[in-house]
Amino acid sequence: MGHSYAVTAEFYDLLQADDFRRLAERLTRRWLGTPRVGVLDVGAGTGLATALLAERTGLVVHAVEPSGPMRAVLLSRLAGNPQLLNRVRVHAVGVQDVGLTAAADFAWCVNTMACLDPEERAEGLAAIRAALVPGGRLVVQRPPHRVEPPWELPSRRLGDDLYTGQVTCADAGPDRATWRFTYRVTHGDQVVREARESFEVHLAQPPAFAAELRAAGLDPVGEDEPEIVIASAR
Ligand SMILES: C[S@@+](CC[C@H](N)C(=O)[O-])C[C@H]1O[C@@H](n2cnc3c(N)ncnc32)[C@H](O)[C@@H]1O
Repeated sequence: MGHSYAVTAEFYDLLQADDFRRLAERLTRRWLGTPRVGVLDVGAGTGLATALLAERTGLVVHAVEPSGPMRAVLLSRLAGNPQLLNRVRVHAVGVQDVGLTAAADFAWCVNTMACLDPEERAEGLAAIRAALVPGGRLVVQRPPHRVEPPWELPSRRLGDDLYTGQVTCADAGPDRATWRFTYRVTHGDQVVREARESFEVHLAQPPAFAAELRAAGLDPVGEDEPEIVIASAR
C-alpha cells in the first residue's frame, strides 16, 4: 500500500476516527487483558489506538509508523497529551525493520496488513513475534481477501463545509487490488476542493494468512469481527 498517505493524513481523523475508536474500544475491552511488559502498535497511523493503549495499560507503547504524514498527526496528538509523552516510543520504520526483542506482551495491528506485500508480511509477522514475549498476545486484522464493492466514509461538517470520502476498489492482478480514495469538500452545491490518493493493497485468503501466522510462531487462538485474528506467541 506504500507509505505515502500524503493526501489521506489530512482527512483520516475527521472521517475515520469515530468508527475506529468504537472498534478499538470494543476489541480492547475483550482482548487487551492486563499486559505487564509493553505494547506494540503496528501501523499506528494517526495514533488513535496508540493513545488508547497507553492510557489503558500505563506501559510503554512502541508505535510503528513508516509514513511521515501519518506520524505528523500522531506526534501532534501526543504533543497535546503530555502524560503520554514519556510512554510512547515512535519507530519511523516499517514493522519488518523495527528490531524489537521481547519488548511487549500485547501487539495490535488493525487496518494495516493490507499495506504489506507477501514478503513484507512474512518479515513483519516474524518481527512482531520477536517483539513479543512467549505467551504474548497479538490482535491482528487479516488482509482483505477479495476486491470489495465501493463504500462511503462517514461524512463530517466543518464550519459550513461538508467533508466526504469515497473508496473504490479495483482488481490489480493476482492477490492485489487498488483502493482509490476520493475526498471532497463541498459548500452547498459547490465542490470547494477534491483530493485523491490510491493505494496498492495485498490480498490473502484467511487460511493462508493463518498459516503465515503459524509459520512466524504466532498461533491463532481466537477470532473477532471484522476479520480479526487473535494469536499467541509460541
Ligand atoms: C489504513 S492506516 C491504519 C492506521 C491505524 N492502524 C488505524 O486503523 O487507524 C495503515 C497504516 O499502516 C502503515 N503502514 C504501511 N506499511 C507499514 C509497515 N510495513 N509497517 C507498519 N506500518 C505500515 C501506513 O503508513 C498507515 O499509517
